Amino acid sequence: MNTVATFDQVRELVGASVGLVPTMGFFHEGHLSLIEAARRSTETVVVSIFVNPLQFGDSADLAAYPRDVGRDAVLAGSSGADVLFIPDVDTMYPKGSRTIVTVEGASASMEGAYRPGHFAGVATVVAKLFAGIQPDVAYFGRKDAQQLAVVRTMAADLSFPVEIDGLPIVREPDGLALSSRNVHLAREDRASALNLHNALFAAGDAFEAGERSVNALLEIARATIDVGAGIDINYIEAADASDASTVDRIDGPVFVAIAARIGNVRLIDSILLDPATERADRGTYIDNPSILYGGA
Ligand code: PAF
Repeated sequence: MNTVATFDQVRELVGASVGLVPTMGFFHEGHLSLIEAARRSTETVVVSIFVNPLQFGDSADLAAYPRDVGRDAVLAGSSGADVLFIPDVDTMYPKGSRTIVTVEGASASMEGAYRPGHFAGVATVVAKLFAGIQPDVAYFGRKDAQQLAVVRTMAADLSFPVEIDGLPIVREPDGLALSSRNVHLAREDRASALNLHNALFAAGDAFEAGERSVNALLEIARATIDVGAGIDINYIEAADASDASTVDRIDGPVFVAIAARIGNVRLIDSILLDPATERADRGTYIDNPSILYGGA
């Protein structure tokens, strides 16, 4: 595996078909599942690590984002990456940069409402990665379901010739969705964090039992939350999986997303409801404690 810092260096190393896994590092099994999927389907696997300041509204949150590039490099290599791209801020945003990519509609609700400017930061950095690396396929996790819709919309609107592959959420053995932020979760907050997926799974169960009203499903999810658990729910909402538009009934793939602050950590999770299969996609589970906690 080669580790490089500029777009020119990446382009010198890539072959006929390029799979890109954009990340902010501090890898867990969810990231590794994306790298492994890219390895199976594309000739050259490029993994980028860039903690993108443009998508963090709060400088304390940016500073606190966990980082360990040495550990990430070992994990990326053993999962099948060919090229590890670690640009600095000046490479991604050369002095005088004036262009910001804003995806109207898909960015407005949920995370967009709670984190103004967040999705412009995501869309801008992902557009720059697509332009600079020119991948054939780009891999994203479904946990950030609204982000996936924003990226799909951006890529279609800007005519990037890239296939966007959204892969299942990977969950810890107790059901908590893997997130690099889980390392900051205090031991006493762990049980509260399980409320997130329990609420989504309750909606998923009702969907699989035949409920198609979004309001009814959201009510079921909200009723599942243990209000005494000390979690501050930001939202529980549902949206069309392709463009994050509002839906009343589930006639096509819809995601239900939840975001909450638990202690010092803000976590998000989601579930995908697909009427074609009549299944709620809850993701996959790892069998042991995550490598996030020092198992790598
Ligand atoms: O999901 C992430 O890790 C980031 O939002 C992404 C897509 C790498 C853009 O910075």
